[in-house]
Amino acid sequence: MTLVLKLDAEHPQLEVIEQAASIIRNGGLVAFPTETVYGLGADAMNKQAVQRIFEAKGRPADNPLIVHVCDRAMLDLVADQVSARAEALIAAFWPGPLTLVLKRRHLVAKSVSAGLSTVAVRMPRSQSALELIRRAATPIAAPSANRSGRPSPTTAAHVARDLDGRIDMILDGGGTNIGIESTVLDLTSEPPVILRPGWVTREQLMDAIGQVELAEAGEELKRSPGTRHKHYSPRARVLLVELNSSASIHQICSDLLKEGPVGFIGHTRVAIDNSVFSAIVLKDRAEDYARSIYSALRELDERGASVIVVEGISDQGEGAAVMDRLRRAASEAQ
Ligand code: TXA
Ligand code: MG
Repeated sequence: MTLVLKLDAEHPQLEVIEQAASIIRNGGLVAFPTETVYGLGADAMNKQAVQRIFEAKGRPADNPLIVHVCDRAMLDLVADQVSARAEALIAAFWPGPLTLVLKRRHLVAKSVSAGLSTVAVRMPRSQSALELIRRAATPIAAPSANRSGRPSPTTAAHVARDLDGRIDMILDGGGTNIGIESTVLDLTSEPPVILRPGWVTREQLMDAIGQVELAEAGEELKRSPGTRHKHYSPRARVLLVELNSSASIHQICSDLLKEGPVGFIGHTRVAIDNSVFSAIVLKDRAEDYARSIYSALRELDERGASVIVVEGISDQGEGAAVMDRLRRAASEAQ
């Protein structure tokens, strides 16, 4: 059994965080809340510790990890050639949900970057995460704390469901605030490229530094190897109905019920009187979708749905990140 310790958002219990930090310093694994999703942390400078992350998650070795730092000085331990553009982004968005891909320094365990010459770094906003890194006194490599391929965890219970017995400790800080992962921006290319859309939008990035591109499918695969693997998926098949689709959600759900239990997540009320139909209704806003989508997918899995119908939202602003995750969850790629 993995030790689960509660954190109080108002009063960060320093002795709890100290216990977690000592596990990290000794090469162990601690899951902790950030403002986006829960991360599975290990000392980024310790090769064996980093290896344990890949084992616990069942993560393919070619999918690099994000390194978390607590201040600007710690960034210099992991990255080289921090440009004026990077500094402008750091000033505007850190601490926060923006990950920067920079030139890697060799102190960082090579496996963190899956052999690439770059390293992805972010400074999380959550006070307990910052305190954990500060007390561990080392940069913390942390992918999302789910089994590889599953929806990212937004509560400690989600982490326990996937990783209980496989990691040393879970810090339980309640539900995460944003609910989907950070924006990943590659600053080693000209112009910079968004490898993974997130809560910091392309428009916000362009306001800060000018032209920023969105990765195209082929290019994205080359530069962010992790994106090739199946992602964000519950056990049930996910069927995404895009916002501009003319299909009737009610009809789709009714037809699928002939084949087995159906789950529905969306902003339209679908009233179907059938004991194997379960609906989770969300507000039609990116913020609400982001905060609830992963837990809703997990919840409908638990209720035994064999297919989950998800109603899409607009791709505008933060909606782009939500729709990116939903399209991946619905894709058949392995
Ligand atoms: O919000 C977040 O980013 C959360 C919290 C815990 O910080 N972390 C997270 O990590 O989502 P993970 O491992 O689930 O996703 C990391 C993403 C992957 O798509 C990976 O391919 C990409 O970042 N990545 C990491 N290092 C990279 C690098 N050097 N070059 C390109 N992409 C990289
Ligand atoms: Mg992940």
